[in-house]
Amino acid sequence: MNRKNLIALLVMMILPALGVNSAMAADAPKKPKISNGLALTPPMGWSSWNNFAEHINEQLMIETIDAFVSSGMRDAGYTYVNLDDGWQRYKGARNKYPLEFDPVKFPRGIKYLSDYAHSKGLKLGIYSGPGQTTCAGYTGSEGHEKQDAAMFASWGIEHLKYDSCCSHKDAPVPVLKTIFGDMSKALMSQKRGIVLHACHCGWGNIWEWAADLGINHWRIGQDLSDDFDYPGNREGYYFDILDMLDRGVGLEQYAGPGHWNDYDMMVVGLAGKRSKDLVGAGASNVEYRTHFSLWAMMDSPLLTGTDVRSMDSYTKETLTNKEVIALNQDALGRPATRISSVNGLEIFAKELSDGSWAVALLNRGSATADMTVSLRKDLHLPWSKYSIRDLWQHADLGTYDIPYTAEVISHETKVIRVYEVKDAK
Ligand code: GLA
Repeated sequence: MNRKNLIALLVMMILPALGVNSAMAADAPKKPKISNGLALTPPMGWSSWNNFAEHINEQLMIETIDAFVSSGMRDAGYTYVNLDDGWQRYKGARNKYPLEFDPVKFPRGIKYLSDYAHSKGLKLGIYSGPGQTTCAGYTGSEGHEKQDAAMFASWGIEHLKYDSCCSHKDAPVPVLKTIFGDMSKALMSQKRGIVLHACHCGWGNIWEWAADLGINHWRIGQDLSDDFDYPGNREGYYFDILDMLDRGVGLEQYAGPGHWNDYDMMVVGLAGKRSKDLVGAGASNVEYRTHFSLWAMMDSPLLTGTDVRSMDSYTKETLTNKEVIALNQDALGRPATRISSVNGLEIFAKELSDGSWAVALLNRGSATADMTVSLRKDLHLPWSKYSIRDLWQHADLGTYDIPYTAEVISHETKVIRVYEVKDAK
């Protein structure tokens, strides 16, 4: 082993032991064994659950699709408008009831909605699960995977959230692979490409095997509550924003084009306007912006739960920040790693396809702090000069040859993009 390789090996062994990941140590993700060729960047869209739970209907969906267009969400890259649980006609076990849409909530059917979404350049998603019932007690897909996949395809569906309701916590992985693999195979045999989301609370280390079944994203934990930093888990179950962030540390290696760690639907801007099925005390605007910045940096799907028909201007500005979205949608598909964590001050770094890097400076503490990032020491980049752009201020901050320091207020995340500056020859 030469000296350079030996140093690299030591860095890779010592840094994780200190709780720090080396941005430069990230290996290219492995290609999945099977792929539907979809979701080469993390899916972006909306899901009905956080705000509306089971209270969904045709009018809400049409208005949401229209609001995607008028609010600029579509132009910012949001594509999927997803029905969550509650579109089904019957509550009860699948071996007693068929899976049909509720004709009162959806008088013109689901195909009508997907045609409407397509006419606006958008896509429609739907929800089911591998059990006899779904989490809200509606008929599930167990034993009818092929039939349901064909029905969803005939309705023009392009995204399926397939939800185990955190069941099978201790099931052997081969059993889990069968449960989710059956639906994946059934979807892949349709002519229409359908993105598959395996919602399984992260049980069975799903990130280790889901990509090889052709699954496009998988939840890494239990449901996200509308809290920034709740002490412990609400109801012994929910994760707050910072819990979910911590849950993903170390899982970056499993994500890549077509297969993503899913940090759950965003709660950006919900603050008290959520459905009664979602818990939480709400967060501040600064905290929601931090939440959005980090979901983008981690390459999580960006599925918002906010009511896009009535969101305030701050929420809209947060969700449609194209410069932050560009980090999430970057073709390289390399999630950020946490490269430093000291007393609640954390630095995340993400490599981008044009050779630049995104850096997020997160202050989890209660007081304003100066945070410094050294491209040489923290990112191991040999650049002697670099330029910095602040992606929330939308401003170029100049050219630097020394470490960059920013003042970060409590719970804020500064997001910068750094480019090497080469001297003219
Ligand atoms: C589970 C999921 C949620 C939502 C509900 C629907 O709790 O984790 O995201 O889909 O089920 O019942």
